[in-house]
Amino acid sequence: MEEGDLRLNWARDHMDVVAAIRKRFVNEQPFKGIRIGMALHVEAKTGIFALLLKEGGANVRLSSCNPLSSDDSVVAALKKTYGMKVFAKKGETREEYYSNLNSVLDHSPNILIDDGGDLVRLVHTERKDLISGMYGGNEETTTGVVRLRSMAKAGALKFPMFDVNDAQMKHFFDNRYGTGQSVLDGFMHATNLLVAGKKVVVGGYGFCGRGIAMRMHGLGGNVTVTEVDPIKAIEAVMDGFRVARMHDALADADIVVTATGMKNVITTKDLDKAKNGVVLSNAGHFNNEINFEDLEKNCVKKERVRGDVVRYHLKSGNYVDLISEGRLVNLASGQGHPVEIMDMSFAIQALVAEYLAKNHESLEPDLYSVPQEIDQEVAKIKLSSLGVQIDRYSEEQKKYLESWEEGT
Ligand code: ADE
Repeated sequence: MEEGDLRLNWARDHMDVVAAIRKRFVNEQPFKGIRIGMALHVEAKTGIFALLLKEGGANVRLSSCNPLSSDDSVVAALKKTYGMKVFAKKGETREEYYSNLNSVLDHSPNILIDDGGDLVRLVHTERKDLISGMYGGNEETTTGVVRLRSMAKAGALKFPMFDVNDAQMKHFFDNRYGTGQSVLDGFMHATNLLVAGKKVVVGGYGFCGRGIAMRMHGLGGNVTVTEVDPIKAIEAVMDGFRVARMHDALADADIVVTATGMKNVITTKDLDKAKNGVVLSNAGHFNNEINFEDLEKNCVKKERVRGDVVRYHLKSGNYVDLISEGRLVNLASGQGHPVEIMDMSFAIQALVAEYLAKNHESLEPDLYSVPQEIDQEVAKIKLSSLGVQIDRYSEEQKKYLESWEEGT
């Protein structure tokens, strides 16, 4: 069997929540006659998700949401074994990337499933003719949701979009445990370097930053967190991490991972006092957290020193090593989040897409939270697959919750 098929089969075997949903979708065909356009990181777990929608009756087209994150073996298997229309390859130029997004849109999708917001933005700018046929869509990640919030606030959003990132069953696990593990996977694959005893700087203490800091610490890294939010900064302090400004933290950093969702968190100016040989990487959606163009422009020399690592010699005489052009390290140099994590995230995506298919006529253009019942349903399926049972309130306890009864 070819590698891409093996990877898809392995992922399918470990995606229990998706398996439970598949049983129902195959019977009920919730997407019969519906076209779904997807822009996601095209790797094995994503392939299983796209196939789930197809098994539920959808006509699916899939492209990448990042020029460096596709797994070519999986792309080939999806096309050859499953006849799926996939438009993606690892290492796309900007032109290829947008041409692939447009190929997905050429299908006039009714539902969009986006990661990072490029597909939805394209419909609102260059492909406005598609808006009238659109039921709505889902957004997977923090960065895309920030964009959608701005669009909704400005009254610019033209169809309903669901904020999948903020579902509890998504960000509690995907952003924290998923990013925590997959960043290490990418870092280790790219460098083969030790974390124990190293000074590690984590930029941002959202759920992703928390996961990265936790796992770097778990491997013996000496973690410093940088933040702009005073409350998150205190949280990092109380979780036992040093908190400092980026410029100061860089002075003795061995490893840096940004996960802020903000651009220009590191420029060559920030690197003037950085420790010689610091390894820089990014886990945020876009490659603008570490200013790559600025590094390219202001370095005196650059050289590839390992497959995914480029060394930039700076005017100060020091050098920095950058992994995967500052693109998200967990996918560009690693395998993405662990299978069981994406199982839960894609289960939320699948049930939200089903909700849209059923309810789109009553939804106004706006940004919506994932209905609580969907979060709960995914949690219950996951618990059942783990064989874990939990308590329930008795009728007496439920009454107590609603009463003004004295507590003693
Ligand atoms: N695999 C597929 N989509 C992913 C995502 N958004 N983050 C990490 N791994 C993924």
